[in-house]
Amino acid sequence: MNVSSFQQYKQAGHSISMVTCYDHWSAKILNKSDIDCLLVGDSLAVVMHGFDSTIHATIEMMMMHVAAVARGATEKFIIADMPFLSCSKGLEPAMDAVQQLMHAGAHAVKIEGASHQLPLIKQIVEAGVPVMGHLGLTPQSIHTMGGHKVQGKKEGDAERLITDAAALEAAGCFSLVLECIPTNLGRQISDSLTIPTIGIGAGPCTNGQVLVLQDLLGVNPEFTPKFLRRYANSYGSILEGVNHFHRDVVSHCYPSQRESYK
Ligand code: KIV
Repeated sequence: MNVSSFQQYKQAGHSISMVTCYDHWSAKILNKSDIDCLLVGDSLAVVMHGFDSTIHATIEMMMMHVAAVARGATEKFIIADMPFLSCSKGLEPAMDAVQQLMHAGAHAVKIEGASHQLPLIKQIVEAGVPVMGHLGLTPQSIHTMGGHKVQGKKEGDAERLITDAAALEAAGCFSLVLECIPTNLGRQISDSLTIPTIGIGAGPCTNGQVLVLQDLLGVNPEFTPKFLRRYANSYGSILEGVNHFHRDVVSHCYPSQRESYK
């Protein structure tokens, strides 16, 4: 997949699958998978570093994870999140951050929000870097939004999101993540755009779906948002695997002769 495939997929009615990827070993597995594209999301601050929100992601963290993913997922289209405030300190620092992510191995960047980001998005696109937009629940603005809440429920908010989506398309975004909005709004925005939308908690009518890899694999049983479908019980498998190893070690069942050097 490359940046032009996104629009082709939408035109052909082919739904786009995206998952987050933060490290080399999962990148190598995902490289062999059928998943269309990988997002090195700033959610890595929470999932990989244990912070309570994505505002703790820094450009250094993002670069390190992008580079690890790029070394493993050599066949995949990789999108990297522009971290908290990296787009808000002026054009030059923002373009420097874009350069750092692209040099680390990203093929595109994702930017949260709309109106205040439009001139920057245009500039990045003109510089030859594909930009993915992100509307609805934008976790970097969690303190303005008052928590993880479904967005666009009120008519005025929904209208604003529809206008913002059109503005992002006009600014040159090649696709748009829609996070935690009502199904009808997800459908309305997707139908109103030429570029594909990729939803997370935005219902079944977007042009693709994205999930955090660890969430879909069931790594954290305490995380239970309505939109999440678990495709594996990795929490149970990992716990069982390491406990089995522990039992084998304490009972001297591991290593066997066959697993030892002569
Ligand atoms: O950072 C992230 O994981 C994301 C997805 C939830 C879309 O932005």
